[in-house]
Amino acid sequence: MALLFHSKIDSSEEFGAVLASELPGTEFRVWPDIGDPAEIEAAVVWRPPPGVLAALPNLQLICALGAGVDALLADETLPAVPVVRLVDDHLTTSMSEYVILQVMRFHRLDHEYLAQQRAGVWKILPPRIAEERKVGMLGMGVLGTAAAQKLRHIGFDVAGWSRSPRRIEGVPTFHGPEGLDALLERSEILVCLLPLTADTQDILNASLFRKLPKGAVLINCGRGKHLVEEDLIPALDSGQLSAAALDVFREEPLSPKHPFWSHSGIFISPHVASQTNAGTAGRAIADNIRRMRSGRPLLNQVDIRKGY
Ligand code: GLV
Repeated sequence: MALLFHSKIDSSEEFGAVLASELPGTEFRVWPDIGDPAEIEAAVVWRPPPGVLAALPNLQLICALGAGVDALLADETLPAVPVVRLVDDHLTTSMSEYVILQVMRFHRLDHEYLAQQRAGVWKILPPRIAEERKVGMLGMGVLGTAAAQKLRHIGFDVAGWSRSPRRIEGVPTFHGPEGLDALLERSEILVCLLPLTADTQDILNASLFRKLPKGAVLINCGRGKHLVEEDLIPALDSGQLSAAALDVFREEPLSPKHPFWSHSGIFISPHVASQTNAGTAGRAIADNIRRMRSGRPLLNQVDIRKGY
């Protein structure tokens, strides 16, 4: 049997090598050289063009090369076979690093000291202690929970919000629509690590910003479509938000003409908060393919109805 690989950002050579050693005897085919489509039992993919998977008559498993499966589920021709998202320690740790980096930047006023450096200003700003700094995490899945727990460990006053109730060691949680308002009210630094679904699209908008304490900071490392982009600069310019760190955008790459680039309150990275590592991801994917072959329960299967 064969695997089909498709990704514009992950290395087919690296994944081919890991999967060949994990799954001996399995042919590794890289899209568009798919060979006989009937031989493909599993697809390992990141944003495949719509219709590619529907053309594989014996497909039994779709393995996403990332944590978010919104783009995959948007394919209206997606075959009715199990989809598993990528969960591996590297991806989780790497996202926690990004969240800690951004929270620290704002907590330690690094963005303000950078602006002062550029202006040649030596001025000491009032410091705050982590225990009194309230951080809110939107999304308490694998990535959100790990990042929230690490922030907690550093000392921040962290709380989380998710659609349905969650009980997380050391981190108070809110859920549902009323819970969201309660979380926002207390979040001086708000981190978005939600899955992108019909319910969460556009959630980061002017009305949500108004529910945050004045001068709050936004960190978006979920998906670009969580943010109503037109609402961000007015919120920054009015002082309702004081800064934003964005890793994801509605259109990627971000257009060179986009006003976010030149706004002094916006910190941009090119969707690199957590990047898939072929070694750890390849092993997690191979584990699920072996499970599929032997009829054992899959790990991290997506609930297609919920969208994550
Ligand atoms: C990246 O954006 C991912 O979903 O893993």
